[in-house]
Amino acid sequence: MKGKDFLSITDLEPDEVSQMVRKASEMKIDGVPRLLEGKSVALIFEKPSLRTRVSFEVGVQQMGGNCIYLSQADIGLGVREPVVDVARVLDRLVDVIVARVFSHESLETLAEETTIPVINALSDLAHPCQALGDLLTMSEAKGHLEGLRVAYVGDGNNIASSLALGCASVGTDFVIAAPGNYHVPSVAWEEARRRAFEKESLLEWVEDPKRAVDGADVVYTDVWISMGDEREADERRKVFSKFQVTEDLMGLADDQAVFMHDMPAHRGEEVSENMLDHHSSVVFAQAENRLHAQNAIMAELLSG
Ligand code: NVA
Repeated sequence: MKGKDFLSITDLEPDEVSQMVRKASEMKIDGVPRLLEGKSVALIFEKPSLRTRVSFEVGVQQMGGNCIYLSQADIGLGVREPVVDVARVLDRLVDVIVARVFSHESLETLAEETTIPVINALSDLAHPCQALGDLLTMSEAKGHLEGLRVAYVGDGNNIASSLALGCASVGTDFVIAAPGNYHVPSVAWEEARRRAFEKESLLEWVEDPKRAVDGADVVYTDVWISMGDEREADERRKVFSKFQVTEDLMGLADDQAVFMHDMPAHRGEEVSENMLDHHSSVVFAQAENRLHAQNAIMAELLSG
């Protein structure tokens, strides 16, 4: 880990990404060290959450710690008081901050203004805990990561950015099918390109979902309207209408391919009605693996 915080996959060197997936897999089997005994973790959530909140609360409890849940209504991050002040106060009182924020800059401020680990629980730009859990799910489903082909269909959002970086770090081919104006932001894409080059894996952007999914080992999608994008909902539904993952599209992937979605899923939008129950779907294993990936991250930050 480059520093005391985990805000992005880029906080890990490419080889550390594979190590973290291995560590998560070991902890899933052997259990977790009680590194949080007598310690407190602040969970800041500016946006709603099911998987992230529950998996962090369970993980912290497994490691012997105590969680303090702070919703936006409770603390008014950046509204009731500036992010710097929240950071400096929490730095005196708790041992770890886990934060889900609208603006990635708030996370950077929390990280800069504290001496304790800060973990990104989703921002507008990145969802690195999700990507690590997803790599664990892929390695369990397919037995390896190197040389797999992941097809991501839909919005080049926080999930796509972290997944592109994660795949590129471990030598997994990553092809995104996204409409022109909805590609992964260039900072993340260029770093993913550097990592893919180093690992001799493929990183490609296409506009045709069929081209992306052709022969894929993993087909992945996420919502078209992320939290914070609600005002663009009508426009986005129009732009993405040809990017739905259906049983037919899945039929173009490898026979043994798996279907993944970070959830919440909107049936009838980015996925057809029955995709989550399709024989290829590993979405619930994927949800569980958030816990194991985050435990590995917390253990790494606390022991480092
Ligand atoms: N892209 C989605 C992910 C939800 C876990 C969002 O940001 O709302």
